[in-house]
Amino acid sequence: MNCELEKSIIDAGQEHLLRYIPGLSAEELDSFCNQLAAVNWGQIPELAEKYVLNRPEISIPDDLTPAKFYPLKPADAATEELYSAADAKGVELLKAGKVCCLTVAGGQGTRLGFDGPKGTYPIGPVSNRTLFSYFAQSIARASEKYGAPVNWYIMTSPINREATENYFRAENFFGLKEENVFFFTQGTMPAFGLDGKLLLSSKSSLALSPDGHGGTLLALRKSGALDKMIADGCEYISYFQVDNPLVPVVDPRFIGLHYLENSEMSAIMLSKTNPYEKLGNFCVSGGRTMIIEYSDLPDELAVKRNADGSLAFVAGSPAIHVLSRSFVEKLTSGGTLQLPWHRADKKIASLDENGTLVTPDSPNGVKLESFIFDALPLAEKVMILEGDRAEVFAPTKNATGVDSAESCREMLTARNARRLVLAGVEIPYTADGKVDAVIELSPRCVLDDADAVALVKESGLKKIFSGQVVAL
Ligand code: UTP
Repeated sequence: MNCELEKSIIDAGQEHLLRYIPGLSAEELDSFCNQLAAVNWGQIPELAEKYVLNRPEISIPDDLTPAKFYPLKPADAATEELYSAADAKGVELLKAGKVCCLTVAGGQGTRLGFDGPKGTYPIGPVSNRTLFSYFAQSIARASEKYGAPVNWYIMTSPINREATENYFRAENFFGLKEENVFFFTQGTMPAFGLDGKLLLSSKSSLALSPDGHGGTLLALRKSGALDKMIADGCEYISYFQVDNPLVPVVDPRFIGLHYLENSEMSAIMLSKTNPYEKLGNFCVSGGRTMIIEYSDLPDELAVKRNADGSLAFVAGSPAIHVLSRSFVEKLTSGGTLQLPWHRADKKIASLDENGTLVTPDSPNGVKLESFIFDALPLAEKVMILEGDRAEVFAPTKNATGVDSAESCREMLTARNARRLVLAGVEIPYTADGKVDAVIELSPRCVLDDADAVALVKESGLKKIFSGQVVAL
């Protein structure tokens, strides 16, 4: 190992990492040295002190106010006119091929407890099609509908990149052209033990974890994705998470409003169902939009109400964004971008004192992640649009219960049922108002309500019976 690197590691108080080096093969040593050389050692003692040995103080600005947003339904004629113009502009941008999709799929999906990239999780209520398949087919339909390619950028981590790409190849890219799908890999951060010492996952490897979805922005630059967007004339990025198959992969109104409002980074907001709902809160301080995590919003603000009884801080984030490519270019122009770190206490498999790999039962370490929403305060202009939860947000975080695969499938069926009702189909409901059937509409054919109506017309479907399982 080169002396300079060794010195940086020792100066950073992480000498224990060198303990097994004498026993490593030349190949192991080579790969370990490459890994160690990629770490910013100068930063490690400060990170350990600030985020691991101490819990970072959350300072909530004094001037925090709720962020303004465009309502789901236009409240006056001017807004109605604006929405019509936005719809038309969004369609125009899509037809001109100026919009791409970006799915962040680098997470580890620990809560779901699924072995493999989360995007390969089966979610179709009838077909069991996977999350990736859902998005791929929606994107194929969007390209067909707007007559222009909608390129798809998929962020993976070094841990799941190969498995993700192999999956797409095995599935022939779900009928998409390979040239329209661009995989890129996010950065990693070494995990800390609770004592501030970095953890080893083997004698020749640090315990590394993905650096959070905030890593997307720099990864777009470093991977050449931004260059590809420039070459392809793509100017707007429709950003969504891999675990939300309900999200419209491209939403003309959202994209159009982003454009008309000269926004650099836009967001969909959902009206929170209660003061403590686990969604980040859209707020403003010093003229800048920001998200304050649900756990950090002071109680008196969380429960504060408007005169009409509605929550003052009502806007919660489902992590659906449109970003201007030029904004990402600007933020990463120096080849660096440091968004704030957030601490997460996790169970991290790592070597114990005896050099044995141990998987702990309770959190034994700290992962540091950055979040994409921390780019909001860096934008000169932010546009927020209210979304309809039942139409856009069904996160698959857990195996069962709240925000689970089960609740997500139910929401997909419910949205499909609503679309069939629009097309004049009779739907069975249980006494408590749930759809009493399982319904799937192919995302390859149905991107929006109009597509659903056309599909039903073609199929001649008139009625669904109780307990029926229907796939169109
Ligand atoms: P989550 O915060 O839900 O994390 O990610 P997760 O890793 O998927 O799941 P848990 O917390 O381990 O159970 C939200 C979205 O951000 C992506 C995820 O893939 C998901 O689409 N993400 C998260 C990344 O792309 N990279 C990361 O480092 C973290």
